[in-house]
Amino acid sequence: MAFMRKSALPVLVLFLAYYYSTHDGFRPEMLQGKKVIVTGASKGIGREMAYHLANMGAHVVLTARSKEALHKVASRCLDLGAASAHYIAGTMEDMAFAEQFVAEAGKLMGGLDMLILNHITNSSMTLFHGDISAVRRNMEVNFFSYVVLSVAALPMLRESHGSIAVVSSVAGKIAQPLIAPYSASKFALDGFFSSIRSEHAVAKVNVSITLCVLGLIDTDTAMEATSGVFTGIPSRKEDCALEIIKGTALRQEEVYYDSSRWTSLLLGNPGRRIMEFFSLQKYNLDKFVRN
Ligand SMILES: NC(=O)c1ccc[n+]([C@@H]2O[C@H](COP(=O)([O-])OP(=O)(O)OC[C@H]3O[C@@H](n4cnc5c(N)ncnc54)[C@H](OP(=O)(O)O)[C@@H]3O)[C@@H](O)[C@H]2O)c1
Ligand SMILES: *[C@@H]1O[C@H](CO)[C@@H](O)[C@H](O)[C@H]1NC(C)=O
Ligand SMILES: *[C@@H]1O[C@H](CO)[C@@H](O)[C@H](O)[C@H]1NC(C)=O
Repeated sequence: MAFMRKSALPVLVLFLAYYYSTHDGFRPEMLQGKKVIVTGASKGIGREMAYHLANMGAHVVLTARSKEALHKVASRCLDLGAASAHYIAGTMEDMAFAEQFVAEAGKLMGGLDMLILNHITNSSMTLFHGDISAVRRNMEVNFFSYVVLSVAALPMLRESHGSIAVVSSVAGKIAQPLIAPYSASKFALDGFFSSIRSEHAVAKVNVSITLCVLGLIDTDTAMEATSGVFTGIPSRKEDCALEIIKGTALRQEEVYYDSSRWTSLLLGNPGRRIMEFFSLQKYNLDKFVRN
């Protein structure tokens, strides 16, 4: 009994330390006064992220194509307690807009702490019958503009030791029918941003990258697109939006958010982790590292 009592406390402390270090440690104050960009913020998960950030007292600059919708979201953000809320409307099919947008947002807030890349082009669920233009549009809007935005934001993020959230999908980790162009763009995000993350580690760039792997979420777009075709259980967009912000603020490498708890376990992919670790040992990176 004495043994039990003596060892129970340290065990409990260790358990709690482990529990809180891996599962939480997030406090809404972490976002207070932080300068955040949210793309695709006129509706869906992006709009919910803007509202959470406003509640936490962050500065936000929002973008999407629809000016009227953005105006409403920004006004509501101010009502909810945002430190400031601006929007700049434009299309992410235009890379010049993407670049200028980041510069303007940086000026409006006087810097940048968090870049949340979330927008996607519209696409329907259908068999691929050779619609090359759809592949190109998905790659441009869902992938290439993310690269442009992150390149434009990196100097400010380096300065602030900031964070990038890359919103992806289970379809960016596994193959599924009817969404080949979308899936390709989401896989591309993993390839590019996970590589950049490992370069940041080598080059001691303290800008975190959080890849967010989402299952079906109950946004209007997703509910309409999947209706009658896919019968997954949707999760709530409000909760999903909060988990993205939490994981990004905690500088996690990946966030999994799906109605099935198996998803993170199965897609966490220890095989990939182990291979990435051993592959890294074979490089001579000295000449790329700035001292
Ligand atoms: N919902 C799901 O089930 C689900 C599942 C897995 C992953 N995700 C990911 O979660 C993110 C958000 O999805 P969601 O369901 O919230 O989508 P959503 O409700 O359709 O929102 C998409 C956002 O992107 C903007 N947008 C569309 N075309 C654009 C363009 N050409 N240029 C700039 N902005 C554009 C839209 O605004 P405008 O139309 O005004 O431009 C809107 O604000 C996406 O990255 C998606 O892949 C969602
Ligand atoms: C995407 O939206 C545009 C403009 O609203 C529309 O013309 C196009 O048909 C849509 N494409 C798909 C694949 O839904
Ligand atoms: C990176 O930046 C974060 C956020 O400011 C900070 O908590 C962390 O200690 C920094 N890491 C290093 C290695 O400087």
